Amino acid sequence: MKFGYFDDANKEYVINSPKTPYPWINYLGNQGFFSLISNTAGGYCFYKDARLRRITRYRYNNVPIDMGGRYFYINDNGTVWNPGWSPVKTELDEYQCRHGMGYTVIEGKKNGLKAEVTFFVPQNYDGEVQQVVLTNESNETKNFSIFSIAEWCLWDAQDDCTNFQRNFSTGRVEIEGSTIYHVTEYRDRRNHYAFYTVNDTIDGYDTDRDAFLGSIYNGWNNPATVEADKPSNSFADGWSPVASHYKKVTLAPGESKTLIYILGYAENPQDKKFASEKPANLLTREAWVLNKEKAYAMIEKYNTPEKVAAGLAELRETWNSLLSIFNVHTPDDKVDRMVNIWNQYQCMVTFNLSRSASYFESGIGRGMGFRDSNQDILGFVHQIPERARERLIDIASTQLSDGGCYHQYQPLTKKGNADIGGDFSDDPLWMILSVAAYIKESGDWGILDANVPFDDDPNGQHTMLEHLNVSFYHIVNNLGPHGLPLAMRADWNDCINLSCFSDTPGESFQTYTNPKFKAEGGYSKIAESAFVAALFTYTGPAYVGILKHIGKADEAAKAQAEIDKMKKNVMESAFDGDWFIRAYDAYGEKMGSKECEEGKIFIEPQGFAVMSEIGKEVGADIKTLNSIDKYLNCEFGLVLNNPAFTKYYIQYGEISTYPGGYKENAGIFTHNNAWIICAEAYAGRGDKAFEYYSKIAPAFTEETSDIHKTEPYVYGQMIGGKDASNFGQGKNSWLTGTAAWNMVAISQYILGVQPDFDGLKVDPSIPAAWDGFTAVRKFRGATYNITVKNPNHVNKGVKSMTLDGNAVQGCVVPVCDGGTHEVEIVLG
Ligand code: GLC
Ligand code: GLC
Repeated sequence: MKFGYFDDANKEYVINSPKTPYPWINYLGNQGFFSLISNTAGGYCFYKDARLRRITRYRYNNVPIDMGGRYFYINDNGTVWNPGWSPVKTELDEYQCRHGMGYTVIEGKKNGLKAEVTFFVPQNYDGEVQQVVLTNESNETKNFSIFSIAEWCLWDAQDDCTNFQRNFSTGRVEIEGSTIYHVTEYRDRRNHYAFYTVNDTIDGYDTDRDAFLGSIYNGWNNPATVEADKPSNSFADGWSPVASHYKKVTLAPGESKTLIYILGYAENPQDKKFASEKPANLLTREAWVLNKEKAYAMIEKYNTPEKVAAGLAELRETWNSLLSIFNVHTPDDKVDRMVNIWNQYQCMVTFNLSRSASYFESGIGRGMGFRDSNQDILGFVHQIPERARERLIDIASTQLSDGGCYHQYQPLTKKGNADIGGDFSDDPLWMILSVAAYIKESGDWGILDANVPFDDDPNGQHTMLEHLNVSFYHIVNNLGPHGLPLAMRADWNDCINLSCFSDTPGESFQTYTNPKFKAEGGYSKIAESAFVAALFTYTGPAYVGILKHIGKADEAAKAQAEIDKMKKNVMESAFDGDWFIRAYDAYGEKMGSKECEEGKIFIEPQGFAVMSEIGKEVGADIKTLNSIDKYLNCEFGLVLNNPAFTKYYIQYGEISTYPGGYKENAGIFTHNNAWIICAEAYAGRGDKAFEYYSKIAPAFTEETSDIHKTEPYVYGQMIGGKDASNFGQGKNSWLTGTAAWNMVAISQYILGVQPDFDGLKVDPSIPAAWDGFTAVRKFRGATYNITVKNPNHVNKGVKSMTLDGNAVQGCVVPVCDGGTHEVEIVLG
């Protein structure tokens, strides 16, 4: 069952019922100011950091779900309704929500009155613009009123939802004309404020939440002021400050009125925090006055429909241009839709927000993840390489000089989060992969010489190349008894915690140090990760390639020897006959092996082992891929492990705490489905690769939206696996490494358009039924029009390639100096 449809021409998903199986959201903003907005206008906004600069409040585990946001209420002669249906939930005569690239349009109609609200964050602007167009489509004059509402968060979202003894007494506002200012804590230590304005006179306002709602017994679904059609002109003083404008409107039949609201954020320099004069119309309880110059300028910028139209046009232009860098035309319009629009869009969002703020990530717990952000770059780097470069330097600066790193950092402070710490065994390797991806995309070898400090030597002179070096050797220097990398607190799988042994509720599986291992430095020196071993042999060659390219042949040979040794160690100790084992636990027992009672096979090491060609000479790759098909494949994707754990295995950590079929315990973790898609494509099995791709790519699951529940235009982290009672149900949509990795899987492995150090490699591995496809790829200043022909209906194998009509040996298109070039490839 569907709840909408794709409008590819407008790059929108159009939702035609407010009652989607879960809130279906969009992200507005891609630089400083961010908003989340659901199809019923729920959501919240923040500046840069969802924890430290939260602007509006949101309650995650609210009942009913998705209560709170920025709402408009219309009171049309006693009928109270919202353009987005919620929170009053008056049945609408018409409803539509269009989520587009950086904007959302919500439209509702009731009793002949139509309200169309366009929400967007303009480029280079720290505010959300909300344009409300009210149209009287009836035959009679309409007199009605419109209330706006936004509930302020008291800045630190963590403190806001815990420290009530203080917070219920700190809220402060100023009101000037039609603008309500949120100045809580401004006088003292903050230099930032927020405001909510409308480009018209108002007939009243509210700034105190309880006054707006009427009493503490009313909710957002029945605010007393709205029902009475009478604002209370309240002035917040402590408790919960809000911003609500009240406006009376009269419209003749056919007449329209446009109101533009702006929810903005601004910062003042320390010496310009206060205004010297108090305007006569300013309402305040304070002796000091906020300097509002920045807000005035922001308000001025979008105070007419023409200016709003220009801002929207600029946003559209930005997205058209970003999406023109890579697009394809294949025999399957679902593939085109994912590759050309939604997957790339999601890659921007994951690049911006890592795993911080979604409808499943509270914005409080995790800032930017070291491993997450590095992987996000893989899917994003072609869009804006310069931003990827800046991010790489930020991330690398949280690394320690021994190659270890902070697992997370706050985007506002760019400092590693001490409470989560480090010692995640996979982290350093992702940086090799992302820096290599950046160089392959941009050809900017200069990044290797960029000065990038270590967290434990902030003033030292260090280069990015040094960071890659310590990353690589952090693995080599931390091997266990079988010569495999130590598993430490966790590897990619946050829930395999082989050094934890937690038996006390509430202990964090990732940070708790079992006394057993305290003396050894915090983790077992026995437990090893075969996954990190495979990731090492997969990423290591990129490091070797970099060294060779810059003329460090000896270092390259030394690194290559480590890779070869690791492959040997894996074959000797981690190949189980038909697949690779997952780990050795702290007792030295195999995990993810035929010998195990449960969890006999895990997905994670397999793809990277296959792509590293470990044991290829003895057929390990095909055996492994076949085992995945046999044990992990099911209707909705590949489960993470099989059989699911049914008991608590204290020596494995968090993984077995999940009911079977969910999350890391045999859920369909789409992120690592992508690694198998890549591996199948790599091994030349394009049909299998495509089968797995089409099981999880959202455009393909749209038809089962009622089962899947989450947005059909973006990936979620997890789908209930075959052992789950909610088999096929998606969770944790939006912020997942699946976005980047499935972008890599489809574009670089299946379609095979893969940037390389010395050119653009084109080596597709497609369904045999396809006649071919075309692609446009802008790469290092030139545009390549690529045509792939598949006359013999093979999966893989470039028979011939031409560049502007001239034959090219192999399948790497050399770097051209600007211009547009025709690349033709024949498979066979
Ligand atoms: C989450 C985390 C990611 C981790 C994965 C598996 O998606 O963000 O870092 O690798 O879970 O545990
Ligand atoms: C990842 C995992 C999740 C785990 C968390 C711990 O997000 O997906 O299951 O609880 O990491 O930080």
